[in-house]
Amino acid sequence: MTTTAHDEAVPHPLDEEAVDARVRDALSSFDAASDLDELKAARLAHTGDRAPIVLANRRIGSLAKEDKAAAGKLLGRARGQVQKALAARTEVLEAEHAERLLVEETVDVTAAPRRRRIGARHPLSVLQERVSDVFTAMGWEIAEGPEVESEWFNFDALNIAPDHPSREMQDTFFVEPPDAHLVLRTHTSPVQVRSLLERELPVYVLCPGRTFRTDELDATHTPVFHQFEGLAVDEGLTMADLKGTLEHFARKMFGPEAAIRLRPAYFPFTEPSAEMDIWHPDAKGGPQWIEWGGCGMVHPNVLRAAGADPDRYTGFAFGMGVERTLMFRNGVPDMRDMIEGDVRFSQRFGMEV
Ligand code: PHE
Repeated sequence: MTTTAHDEAVPHPLDEEAVDARVRDALSSFDAASDLDELKAARLAHTGDRAPIVLANRRIGSLAKEDKAAAGKLLGRARGQVQKALAARTEVLEAEHAERLLVEETVDVTAAPRRRRIGARHPLSVLQERVSDVFTAMGWEIAEGPEVESEWFNFDALNIAPDHPSREMQDTFFVEPPDAHLVLRTHTSPVQVRSLLERELPVYVLCPGRTFRTDELDATHTPVFHQFEGLAVDEGLTMADLKGTLEHFARKMFGPEAAIRLRPAYFPFTEPSAEMDIWHPDAKGGPQWIEWGGCGMVHPNVLRAAGADPDRYTGFAFGMGVERTLMFRNGVPDMRDMIEGDVRFSQRFGMEV
């Protein structure tokens, strides 16, 4: 008969010494288990189907009748010891495990949160919103118009004659086919006419939006840029209202020391027209006048084109570049930085512009 090493480890059911040795094996391997996984392995080895004491117990059946009781008693005691030791060790290791979980899963509510970098809003958007806020705070509404605009709104309705230089191919993006008479709007002024047509008078609107001109990209030009347009049409508005509004706006944007000055200029859609300069107390190169935008009293022809009676209503309008404003308000020397989409540019401004 062949015997395996395993069989040799199985004590004879009456061999008290051998049985005790297997019990000691079991007890020491339970003690050696340092966590519940190790204890599980020890449990299978010493109480599972192939465990020496379990196999010894199974051999009782083949003993002589008179030996069965003694063997049963011996192995019963042995298995009891093993089970007791196992239960005791299980209790200890489970308690340790619970303790460890408590420590590992503790939430430190005072710890600094791990920040996920999700980018930053673009300074141009933040600036446009800030401008909008100044005007909505005065009760103005925000108006919008399409970026692909009909030539009529972009030029004709604004009193811009067919031979005006801004209607040349080298200034304006025309959209094919030519007989659709569509352009990428060259300024936000077409929204003046749209707002007047859409709304009841009086009208007080601000229109921030994207505009397009066929400029080469360089430090101070970009073919896609942004403007904000203001329009107020009411009974009895004068140039004094224009000046007061712009002054308030300038102070909100550049601080209480900011001032404005108007210089005579020409736009087909305003009469009289002016260039507006702003006194910028904190400019990079020291306090100075900076050219900010165009403005004027809405031309009667524009009011007429938009269905408003110029004998009853007057109005003023103004338009400024957002990129340009960001340049001198926040000391950005190169416009190209604004359009490259490098998040570090935005982050330099944080969320505040
Ligand atoms: N639309 C003009 C421009 O783009 C600015 C302007 C707006 C001038 C409103 C007068 C009144 O330069």
